[in-house]
Formats: sequence, structure tokens, C-alpha cells
Amino acid sequence: MTSAEELLRAAGQGALEKHLAMLSPAERQALESDLSTLSVAELSELRAALKTAPNAAETRFEQMEVLRRGENVERDAEALTLGRAMLARGEVAALIVAGGQGTRLGLSGPKGKFPAGPVTGASLFSILARKVLRRSRDAGRSIPLCVMTGPDNDAETRAHFAEHGCFGLDPACVHFFVQGTLPAVDADGALLLKSPTALFRSPDGHGGTLRALQVSGLLGALERAGIKTLFYFQVDNPLVDVCDPWFIGMHALRGSEFSSKAVLKRGPDEKVGVLGRVNGVPGVIEYSDLPAVVREARNEDGTLRFGAGNIAIHAIELSFVKRIVSGQERLPLHLARKDIPSMGPDGAVHLRPGIKFETFIFDAMRTAAHPLLVVVRREDEFSPIKNRAGEDSPESCRRDQMAQWLRWLDAAGVPLPRDAAGAVGSVEISPLTALGPEDLAAFKGRGLPTGDVVL
Ligand code: UD1
Repeated sequence: MTSAEELLRAAGQGALEKHLAMLSPAERQALESDLSTLSVAELSELRAALKTAPNAAETRFEQMEVLRRGENVERDAEALTLGRAMLARGEVAALIVAGGQGTRLGLSGPKGKFPAGPVTGASLFSILARKVLRRSRDAGRSIPLCVMTGPDNDAETRAHFAEHGCFGLDPACVHFFVQGTLPAVDADGALLLKSPTALFRSPDGHGGTLRALQVSGLLGALERAGIKTLFYFQVDNPLVDVCDPWFIGMHALRGSEFSSKAVLKRGPDEKVGVLGRVNGVPGVIEYSDLPAVVREARNEDGTLRFGAGNIAIHAIELSFVKRIVSGQERLPLHLARKDIPSMGPDGAVHLRPGIKFETFIFDAMRTAAHPLLVVVRREDEFSPIKNRAGEDSPESCRRDQMAQWLRWLDAAGVPLPRDAAGAVGSVEISPLTALGPEDLAAFKGRGLPTGDVVL
């Protein structure tokens, strides 16, 4: 019996075992090679996940302790100094998750290529990479940038960076790695095929970052390079304060293995995950999993009880990642019931109800030592591009980026560029020029030209 047959038999995949037996030697080899990436334990885990639907009635939601910048000036100063020292010692790497396809925006390629610069049309990748470059310059050494891609957008992502000279970063310090996939099953847990010789697979979610770091060899490389902490963020939010030294420092002061930034939700119906405790365990509760009564619950001062909206910015210890990927603690599987193009018993491929699996990075928080949650100001750090129009769209992101730059100019004492009618023109400040108002001192009192301004 081949190892593929053994795997299928041990995992109770009888139908697929029979199918395998009927293939020609060449076809058989192709399917066996696809199956060789799976283990009995993994297949059993997929099956078991089908049976463990959470029972909302038994779920207990509680708030998490929150820390804010400005609450304790001395502690803030200590965190800032520590964070800067960690960056200067080369202990921090930036990590962008960019495996998604931007389908909600109607894009076919990598979302990171979306032109987000309000005046220059610079791509999301360009803005984020230049933030890493500016932080590197401030730190006096290169901060490695890790970019997680998906199987469908990896080549195009690499090409975009190459076309733009890695946006000024040392190419040796930019690391691409591809996320993994998970097979899909039918309601009985039988594996689905997309063709006679290949399983149907879908991306394993951003929780797959951890395993992909290991499988690609990057985890070991980062460790050998002396990296201790990952600054994790999503490709869709150009407002992210990349490698924010205060956050990194606070994470270290707390001795946290997994820290998260959140913003206050706009209202109970904003579709963001919420940070809190579920049955005593810290983590993110997805919008769709939050019962209405919990979603709308208020504190005495009228603020939302579960108002810490997840903005998917985390500081994660590398040693913690190692613990998770070694299998000591596993991320739970989330199910998505979808119509999946898969092969039926007649051998034809058609849409059939099936289940895809994903893991989420924030589920790691539940096993982390001293998890930390900080709430930051939305206008300073979060304006993602997700939808075609309305909030979280290219238009709202353009508005929020410009509003931030105008606040910085104002705070730095730089007269705002106005036209004859007094209207403020379009402004874009390169991350290489400034990551905050403190970097704009050289422009103090200097008039800026009217019209579109790029600094
Ligand atoms: C996500 C969060 C939500 C949070 C919001 C903030 C989840 C399940 N929910 O929602 O709690 O409030 O962001 O913006 O994450 N990605 C991969 N590989 C994958 C899947 C996703 O790299 O397999 C990346 C995407 O490229 C993107 C990010 O993860 O950068 C978020 O994915 P997306 O599906 O857009 O999450 P949201 O629904 O926006």
C-alpha cells in the first residue's frame, strides 16, 4: 500500500481511496504528490472541526483590560526609549500580510498594488515599504520587511517590488514568503477534488502566516539575524504606524508575547472584529459571531462595552511563533460554507456545497503570555481600503490620509497651502519626509505652494 493510500485509509477518506485506485499511473502520481503534504492528524482535525460548532448560548463575553497612550507619561517615555533601542539593536522585523486578492474592491491582482497615494498614486506597497525605510533610517540600521503573499499573487507582488527597486529598501532585507493552503470538504468531511488529480485547496487564512514563516525557512533566518519581535500589519491600511516604537516598547515592558492595537468602534454595527475575552480567553470575536445584545451593550458612560475594534496590528514574539508552529499550541480552524467548484461522482466539475477552512492570527492571543491590548486613535492609525465606496473605501482613505498630514503640518507650525478662495489644496507627505509632525520641523514657517503639494 502506498503512503497516500495509507493516509486516506487512516483518515477515513474511503471515496478518495477508491478514486485513487482507478487512476492511471501518471495521474495517480500527481494526486499522490498533492496528498503528500497532508497528514492523518491534519485531516482528522478538519473533520473534528465540522463537529465543534460554537454554542452561542454558552458563550461568555467579557471586556479586556485596555491601555492607552498618554495615561502614564513616565511609562510612555520608558516604552518609547525601549522600543527605539530594540529597533536600533535590530531586534524587530516588519511583516505585511498580503495574501488576499482584493475581490471586494473588484481587483484581480495583489491588493498592495492599489494606488493609495492621494496625489502621487503611490501603491499601498510603496507607502508601507517607505515607512519601513524611514524607520530604518531613524534606527540607523535596516529593518527587515517580510511580505506574505498568496499562491495567486506571489509573482505579481515580487514583480511590483522589483519594478520599483524595492521602494529604496535593501533587496536583501525584503523577504517574500507564500502562505499555505488547506483542502476543502463536503458536509460529511470527504475531501473535494478540483480535477481528477488535484484537491480543491484555498488559502489557509492569515493564521497561516506562522506556519508559512516556518515552512519557507524565514523563521529560522530571522532568528539567526537576531530578530525577537515581529510588527505585524495588513496591506490594506496605509495609516499604520509601522514599527511604532512606543507600541513595541510597551509590548516588551509588559513581557507580552502577543499585543494588539485597537480603535474604538464607530458604532455597534461597524463590521470589525472586537477584542475581548470569550469564556475567559482573550482574543478577537468576529463581527458576525457577536450576538446583537452583546454588540449593543453599553458601559455606564454610554460607550460601547465591546468597543475595541480590531485593526489587525500586532507585536508578536518570535519565540512564541516557534512554540505555535512546533505544534504545542494549535490555532483553531474557522469554517466557511461556500459553493465550491468540485468533481462530483460523475467525474464532472460543478458547484457543490462545501466547507473551506481558515485560521486567524489573532486566535494566537489566547495562549500568549501577558497579552496586551492598546487602544489608539482611529484618525492616527486606521483607514483601510476595503470597499469600493463609502467608509473604508479609496475615497475615505484619501480623505483620512490628507487630514492626518494637514494635522501634522498644523502641529509643526507649517502654514497650510490654500488657494485664493482659502481652500486647502491636496497634500501628500512621503513617509521618507515624515512619520509624524516632529519630522516636519524644517518646514516650520515656510509657505507651501498652492495646488497639489508633495513633500
Ligand atoms: C479583518 C479582521 C477583522 C478586522 C479587520 C480590520 C479577519 C477574519 N478579520 O477583516 O477582525 O477588524 O480586518 O481591517 O481577519 N490575508 C492573507 N491571507 C488570507 C486571508 C487574509 O494574507 O488567507 C490578509 C489580506 O491580504 C489582508 C488581511 O489578511 O491584508 C485581512 O483580510 P480580510 O479578509 O480583508 O479581512 P477583513 O474581512 O477585512
